Amino acid sequence: MSAIRHLYFHIPFCPKLCPYCCFYVETGTENKTTRFLDALLREVEAVGNKYELRPETIYFGGGTPSALTREQLEYLLGGLRARLDLRELREWTFEVNPATVRADKARVLREAGVSRISLGVQSWDDGLLKTLGRVHDAAQAEKTFGLLREAGFSNINIDLMFAVPGQTLAQWQATLDRTVALRPEHVSSYCLTYEEDTEYFRQLQLGTFRQDDERDAALFETTIDTLTGAGFDHYEISNYAKPGFESAHNFAYWRGADYLGFGPSAFSTVGLQRWQNVPDSAAYMQRVFAGESTTGFSEELTPAMRTGEIAAFAVRTREGIATDALHRWSKEMREFRELGFLEQRGDRTVLTRRGKLMADSVAEAFV
Ligand SMILES: C[S@@+](CC[C@H](N)C(=O)[O-])C[C@H]1O[C@@H](n2cnc3c(N)ncnc32)[C@H](O)[C@@H]1O
Ligand code: SF4
Repeated sequence: MSAIRHLYFHIPFCPKLCPYCCFYVETGTENKTTRFLDALLREVEAVGNKYELRPETIYFGGGTPSALTREQLEYLLGGLRARLDLRELREWTFEVNPATVRADKARVLREAGVSRISLGVQSWDDGLLKTLGRVHDAAQAEKTFGLLREAGFSNINIDLMFAVPGQTLAQWQATLDRTVALRPEHVSSYCLTYEEDTEYFRQLQLGTFRQDDERDAALFETTIDTLTGAGFDHYEISNYAKPGFESAHNFAYWRGADYLGFGPSAFSTVGLQRWQNVPDSAAYMQRVFAGESTTGFSEELTPAMRTGEIAAFAVRTREGIATDALHRWSKEMREFRELGFLEQRGDRTVLTRRGKLMADSVAEAFV
């Protein structure tokens, strides 16, 4: 079996649960311990006995990996460096919540070899940050951006969210303008999704929040115009990068590369096998130290499922899909072309500007 090139680490700790978020996270500190870090390192050793790990990309997500203390970060990242062959590593991303990083932590990350930061700003509007239940305000996010730069990070992504309840086009334009003014290398702009089992979903069902598709389409089009006008390339439906700063880790997912996930709730996919670690830190630690499998769920994909999944990712990217590979979906593709959602560019089929507004419906046709 060939070496695994892409590793994901799930750090499930957050200062506070955001009311729209459905990731597996914990807000208490009882599991945020050295024992948890040891479990992660032990899992790396166990998995490393099974697979050859030669990462080109590492992604620390969550949750909030930056919620770990400086000492915990030193311990964990040092432990990883001792256990992994990092000679081919070309991108190491770390998700940061603006409320959780000061200069000392930023330095520890940089010195450990982290090369890319993904900063969860969401909005530069203090009122909307309150609506989103965030623990930071705009000033704190800007300060954190500055100290990450001072620590030497030259590849920073800013996460933004649009379609937030009550958000106006003017507020969003101001958020985009302030983002551009800071000159990040990358922007992820996510359309708010009402995920089941979240406070936002309940508010939607109660009618306190309402969706407004027309407004959201206008916000999305403004995003494309503002960011591409400022030199960002719209390389995936939610992602914009200055040339050369596309996320290599995300690209690996989108092109269907094998990856392994560590930590509670993390997914792995190798060939047609997919599995997920138990989404429970206490159970995860207990299983790791007992030498038991950490898998809570697993499935074997059919080749058709995997091909469809990869096509659904690919159609959302700038490169689109090789038209030759679309025979299985020729009827759907013809319809999307007639509707003006897809077009031919060379030997590829790509979304039109109009199609970008319908990306989810187009992608759904493949799965
Ligand atoms: C796992 S969070 C990581 C960053 C860090 N925990 C934070 O929130 O600052 C990744 C990103 O997903 C996005 N996100 C989370 N829940 C979402 C939702 N329901 N709809 C759209 N985007 C969402 C946010 O932009 C968030 O920054
Ligand atoms: S959005 Fe980020 S900080 Fe908020 S609960 Fe989700 S992972 Fe934690």
